Amino acid sequence: MSTLTPESMVAVIGTGYMGGGIAQTFALAGHPVAVADATLEQAERAVRRLVAEGEAHEGSGLFPEGAHEALRERLTPATVEDAASRAAYITEAVPEQVALKHDVLGAVSAAASPDAIIASNTSAIPIGELAATVTGPERFLGVHWMNPSYFVPSVEIIPTERTDPQVATGVVDLIRAIGKVPTIVSDSPGFVANRLQFALYKECTRMVEEGIATPDQIDEVVRNSFGFRLPFFGPFAISDIAGLDVYAGSMATMERAYGERLAVPAVLAEHVASGRLGMKSGQGFYRHGPEDAERVRDYRDTAYARLVQVRAELADREPPLHG
Ligand SMILES: NC(=O)c1ccc[n+]([C@@H]2O[C@H](COP(=O)([O-])OP(=O)(O)OC[C@H]3O[C@@H](n4cnc5c(N)ncnc54)[C@H](O)[C@@H]3O)[C@@H](O)[C@H]2O)c1
Repeated sequence: MSTLTPESMVAVIGTGYMGGGIAQTFALAGHPVAVADATLEQAERAVRRLVAEGEAHEGSGLFPEGAHEALRERLTPATVEDAASRAAYITEAVPEQVALKHDVLGAVSAAASPDAIIASNTSAIPIGELAATVTGPERFLGVHWMNPSYFVPSVEIIPTERTDPQVATGVVDLIRAIGKVPTIVSDSPGFVANRLQFALYKECTRMVEEGIATPDQIDEVVRNSFGFRLPFFGPFAISDIAGLDVYAGSMATMERAYGERLAVPAVLAEHVASGRLGMKSGQGFYRHGPEDAERVRDYRDTAYARLVQVRAELADREPPLHG
């Protein structure tokens, strides 16, 4: 299998919203990138758009100095077959339709060198299902970027049962080397990010349907409550800080009201029954040493104060949302 280096040729198939940002990110990290779309003309248009956008972003300080020159130099339009045949790492980012992805992955894997690694940016389709049309499924995996790709750090790496473990390791290194945060997750529908995002979304829409709150009330509460903490702590860290007994108590009330859907999770009940209450008892979902509480408080309070400042700086640029 190809050893991926900072100079490895990358191919991005599908240059819309996601593929465009993925191509820019690889190019700005130094990779030559072959860019393909449904037709060569679309790929040529995409390259012109990505360079122009790079110039605008460079002007406003969002991309580094020299970005648009680097994009002009490193992004090359190509046909799907040509892009795939030249690259060591190929990712598809075509629309979220199973049949289309099968067609594109079939064409890409037929044209690619047997050593090339092939990735899908699907949001939710199980990677094992997409592997069916890939020649050499041991070199295939999910590599799921978030939108907008250049700015959002997370990239989920989703090997299937058939993916060569060295391929997954090589892709983790590649994604880390271009400045992203790769996390290996299991191959299940929606992976981690979208399953969680849509679980939250489902409960939000339910509250609207039940007349509990309007969309703008929910958005305001989420942004300014638990959503405000999420850039710094994930849900398990937050529950350890708050106290798992506190969580179990709150969830018991929800369980009485909403039933199984919001029932106290077995793992939470077990922790509480065993005295593992989070930070205050030294053990919860994480282990906490004697100095950790002080460090968490210091980091948390500094981070939150800075976030308040960033939001105040950006307040007059906040777009209006019309209900
Ligand atoms: N939009 C998001 O927020 C987001 C986030 C993460 C992942 N994704 C996933 O990324 C993928 C792409 O989504 P998007 O939002 O960029 O879509 P998009 O519609 O913006 O872009 C898709 C691109 O694929 C091209 N395309 C269509 N058929 C093609 C073909 N046969 N060969 C080559 N190119 C073809 C289109 O012309 C278009 O440029 C989807 O699987 C989506 O679920 C999207």
